Amino acid sequence: MAHRTLNTIEAVAEASRIGTCLRLDTLVKIAPKFWPAWGICLDPSDPAVRKASVDGYKVEWLDAGPEANATVAEGAKRAGMGDANKLMNEAMAKMVAGCFTPKQPLVVIDLGCGPGGSSLALHTRVGSGRRRLSILVDPSSKALEKAASEMRSAGWSVSTHKMLTEDWLTRDEGPVELKHTNVVLMGASLHHMDVDFVLGALRKHLRSGALIAVADWCHPMLRSPGHFRVLAETLDRMVEPGILARFDENFPTTEEERAAVMQETRLDKAALLSMAGPGGFWVCHALECREKGIKPMFSPYEGHRPVGVWLDEFRQNGFGDIYTESVTPNNSLHTVFLLEQP
Ligand SMILES: C[S@@+](CC[C@H](N)C(=O)[O-])C[C@H]1O[C@@H](n2cnc3c(N)ncnc32)[C@H](O)[C@@H]1O
Repeated sequence: MAHRTLNTIEAVAEASRIGTCLRLDTLVKIAPKFWPAWGICLDPSDPAVRKASVDGYKVEWLDAGPEANATVAEGAKRAGMGDANKLMNEAMAKMVAGCFTPKQPLVVIDLGCGPGGSSLALHTRVGSGRRRLSILVDPSSKALEKAASEMRSAGWSVSTHKMLTEDWLTRDEGPVELKHTNVVLMGASLHHMDVDFVLGALRKHLRSGALIAVADWCHPMLRSPGHFRVLAETLDRMVEPGILARFDENFPTTEEERAAVMQETRLDKAALLSMAGPGGFWVCHALECREKGIKPMFSPYEGHRPVGVWLDEFRQNGFGDIYTESVTPNNSLHTVFLLEQP
């Protein structure tokens, strides 16, 4: 990677007193902290930045309520994908429900429950002839209240935890609830978390045989500065003139670097632009936010791992057999993964 890019990034890291031993991808994730319009994400595997990451998420998410999520959904609709979150939650619920007999009691923990889409979709699938407990965790109080009230109306016993999953899991023996749980849902939320920490804690404390359902963004392309720049280029042209200049100032990349990135993913620029272009999700989301005066959730690095990277992370954390299904068109949004606690 170009030396000056590293210099820029190291300067950013030093300025933040986070440390200078950072890899480029970490840097790119940290930079948004100093450039708020681009969202925020730190490298979860880097212990030196973990604390900063959690604090960053607090800042980002404590104020992000259902309207921000709804705007993502509107962007997806506008891009012609239908309601991508709904598709994702329905697919996840169908897969999970198929793993239980009709009378089996369900204790479900929904981590990053938001306004409750994942839990409610599961409720619709599993019916009411059994004992049902819903444990909801999310830092957004507005979203949490909505989720809790809808689950109660649907007949579930509910407990709520207004906090980050990482904080909820940070107890010596792990939350006692994990010993009784048979389903953990993470609908479009794991990518916001410290992935290794959360998977490690679940692996350690969750009861054997429990099912973990993860539905998440699996963007095959937006992985490096080259990708990000192509996206910035498109957004500059279509949505917010000036984004590209800010990007180049902070992350100068050469034509060779961008070409190398394209080669690395074995996808060409045309393929990327078809996703970032006029009918692409990112542009539609940006337009939606501009019309509503809401800050867009642009964070193309934020957990948009390719499916293979997610699978590696699950395996590295001790989860072996993993069922995987892509549930939105063009590989552009969600894939559902089912993991079983050994
Ligand atoms: C895209 S929404 C998905 C909500 C819900 N699962 C659904 O499918 O409707 C992501 C949610 O994750 C929450 N979130 C972000 N970081 C989190 C963290 N570290 N721990 C718990 N929740 C988090 C946000 O507040 C937001 O409600």
